[in-house]
Amino acid sequence: MRLLLLIALGLVAVQGQDDQWWQTAVFYQIYPRSFMDSNGDGIGDLQGIISRLDHLKDAGVTAAWLSPIYKSPQVDSGYDISDYRAIQDEYGTMEDFDALIAKANELGIKIIMDMVPNHSSDQHEWFYLSENRTEGYEDYYVWKDGPEGSIQEPPNNWLSVFKYSAWKYSSIREQWYLHQFAVEQPDLNFENPKVVQEILDVLKFWLDKGVYGFRVDAVPHIGESQGFEDEPKSGYPGVAEYEHDYLLHWYTHSMPKSYDVIYQMRAFLDEYNSVRPGQDERIMMTEAYANITATMWWYGDEERDGAHFTFNFQFIPLNQDSTAGDIVDKVNEWLDNMPDGKTANWVVGNHDNHRLASRVHPLNVDGYNMLVHMLPGVAVTFQGEEIAMPNGKVTWEQGHDPSACNGRPEDFDRVSRDFERTPFHWDDTKNAGFSTADETWLPVSEKYHENNLAKQKTEENSHFKIYQSLTAFRKESTTLRQGNLKLTNQHNVLLLTRNLNKDHVVFLFNLGDDSVTVDLNDHFDDIENLNVIISSNYENDRKLASVNNIQLPGHAALIGTSTSQ
Ligand code: GLC
Repeated sequence: MRLLLLIALGLVAVQGQDDQWWQTAVFYQIYPRSFMDSNGDGIGDLQGIISRLDHLKDAGVTAAWLSPIYKSPQVDSGYDISDYRAIQDEYGTMEDFDALIAKANELGIKIIMDMVPNHSSDQHEWFYLSENRTEGYEDYYVWKDGPEGSIQEPPNNWLSVFKYSAWKYSSIREQWYLHQFAVEQPDLNFENPKVVQEILDVLKFWLDKGVYGFRVDAVPHIGESQGFEDEPKSGYPGVAEYEHDYLLHWYTHSMPKSYDVIYQMRAFLDEYNSVRPGQDERIMMTEAYANITATMWWYGDEERDGAHFTFNFQFIPLNQDSTAGDIVDKVNEWLDNMPDGKTANWVVGNHDNHRLASRVHPLNVDGYNMLVHMLPGVAVTFQGEEIAMPNGKVTWEQGHDPSACNGRPEDFDRVSRDFERTPFHWDDTKNAGFSTADETWLPVSEKYHENNLAKQKTEENSHFKIYQSLTAFRKESTTLRQGNLKLTNQHNVLLLTRNLNKDHVVFLFNLGDDSVTVDLNDHFDDIENLNVIISSNYENDRKLASVNNIQLPGHAALIGTSTSQ
């Protein structure tokens, strides 16, 4: 009956869980190249991260996920790894890494590594050995003959995510190899159990060094159909023949083998955890852009567990025009599809997508940050989101992202991921305090004079202060961590509550320009008063004796607590 009533009101009821440390954690993504440069070469590094770890503590995050710091020719900013057990020189040494772990442990921040199983760099030793058909390594990569042995025509029509054919001919091996990303990123062959074992060994290496888990990259690409069939055309309008979207990826995306490899990785982690009882669990989160059904399988299937959580990219397409109703739909879609007993997570940005502050209405950024923290489960923050850092400015000549640089200059603004990767805005000094170099690897955005951490630390109700209050509240409020979620909207106002016994946390977020009057009793039972504890653009009373007539100005967002009699 109660469930029926909730459905009739358009509300969902979902319980939060916090048995394990990660289930309500805040994961902060550090993009090392752009976080902090300690040696003045214009590139962020490990000592830089160490020198700024206090910021993470101050921001109140639980764990930091580092984009790749492994040895790499940097064709794809480190997602092309030439040695999975070594640190890239520009970033420092293994001693620096050990020092980072030590400092992080001291501060109570857990370090998570980015793991890239789908492909290595073409400079990896395995690739040399495989290309030369060295015994034992012949099948480490996906090698195929061209049709009738052709050296002109690739084995099939598959396209790279970074444009053009996904095949490259090797005159050394006299065969074609598959690369679903850049030419310099050959796909490893996971049909070969030795390759799976190599990756598990790498996981062990980093776990033994003290990391608490992995963010696993590009997982839908891990396996390919062994029939190597041509993929059908998508028919999407305006997509050029050489662009990835020109085809439907029936044979290269979300294949059973990909899930199998992730489930094997999970089994390995479970085993690692099981012999360390009492220690905090080591975990895995997966990165997959896919439809909701394929996305949920990363959590596991009927028989096997997969990732502890798989990134929820539902909010990534939200923009200036998105409404409160859109948010309700996105949240419900995730929660309705998530398998029972699994943990949700909420992401608004990363190094592959335009920054939140440049996608949504600038006055709604705090509201979105609040949303991520008010929903049950894990909150994810991309570096800079805590200060509402906008995209930087990068020209075609300054760009580094292979997905754009492989294409045409006129497509650069549409395609490049360099804008969200410009250096962090620490303060108002040279290069935003990121580096003393005269030139940085990507230009520092001029917007740093207005938008920087030091400034926001001195301001009363800055983005950063709001962010800090959110992480602090998360730690202190059991209701926020464990409470039932109810969510609905009144036109362009989002209304959310978390409830545990008689305690309520209430979040109201007016996404539109117009002021709106809200009567909480129209939407929720049992909420008689409200004590406003965090707010943005909301100057009204802090203690609301009556919740029947709350005036929310345009773009106001507030969080309050309430205890019913
Ligand atoms: C993931 C990464 C992205 C990278 C790609 C290939 O999507 O997030 O930055 O280019 O994988 O490794």
